[in-house]
Amino acid sequence: MGLFDGFEKVVRQGEPLAMHTWFQLGGPAQYFADPADPDQLIALVGRCRDEDVPVRVLGRGSNLLVRDEGVPGMVIRLVAPPFGKIDVDGDSVVAGGGAKLGRAITTAVHHGLTGLETLIGIPGTLGGALHGNAGTQSGDIGQWTAQATVLTATGEVFTRERDELDFTYRRSSLDELVILEARLQLDEDDPEELTRRMQKHWIVRKAAQPMGHQCAGCVFKNPRGASAGELIEEAGLKGTRIGGAVVSDRHANFIVAEPECTSQDVLRLIELVHDQVHDRLGIELERELEIW
Ligand code: EPU
Repeated sequence: MGLFDGFEKVVRQGEPLAMHTWFQLGGPAQYFADPADPDQLIALVGRCRDEDVPVRVLGRGSNLLVRDEGVPGMVIRLVAPPFGKIDVDGDSVVAGGGAKLGRAITTAVHHGLTGLETLIGIPGTLGGALHGNAGTQSGDIGQWTAQATVLTATGEVFTRERDELDFTYRRSSLDELVILEARLQLDEDDPEELTRRMQKHWIVRKAAQPMGHQCAGCVFKNPRGASAGELIEEAGLKGTRIGGAVVSDRHANFIVAEPECTSQDVLRLIELVHDQVHDRLGIELERELEIW
């Protein structure tokens, strides 16, 4: 492999990315790695920097569409156990960037810590959630984040405190290459009451969104004071299809990929929805879904 001598056990070439994303679409990564622990991750990022290989970090692929041609450079996943640890420390949950957000939420609830239960049902990793400030209408992950440890593309590790963090709607100042760990500082409450609240949020969300289909999260951000889903429906676009990509009948801000769908179908449908909402309602929708 040359470029990645010494990393033969972790680096693969031409890994198909479709199976690593919720859409199950898209081409391969030129290089792909699941490092075993932070030391190996830091060494690998250092090698990529030295060799001028661009690096992307993949979470669970629930807010991502990979283009059919795939991506150049290195794609790294944080799936090894050391990246997914979740601990409770007083009124805080301290978890790795590769931890599943859902597990961090249920851990908090079982320990009688409130704040995150409104986020139940949001898929993906804690790192992904922090990267895009995942949330619902009841709140977002950023408001509970007291500290984050990051790794930069140049190989530096440092910790950012709450006063250096800035979260707004689906936007986060945590833009370093990797979020290694975060401390979520929560409030105390009764675990049974919290469990009931969490279940209620889960049921409401399940009823409104096309979960279990081949799709990602919401495609567009909500414009201020409006719901993108409602606007897309108002523009008459529910059920609109390009190839195997369809605007969900259940919630118009979701695109469902049917068998034979390609990433290009989804990309063309996103453009069509954007343009039609603009032409019919005069509103410019901004994309939330990440595209590689
Ligand atoms: N609506 C329609 N037609 C649709 C979809 C929605 O008329 O096709 C209406 C609903 O009836 C409701 C309103 O729009 O009156 C709001 O709908 P919903 O409660 O589903 O919330 P949303 O604004 O569409 C936001 C987040 C979701 C989050 C939910 C629940 C964004 C872009 N979306 O959706 O987040 O789960 O609230 O709190 O902010 C995501 O970001 O990926 C995502 C799924």
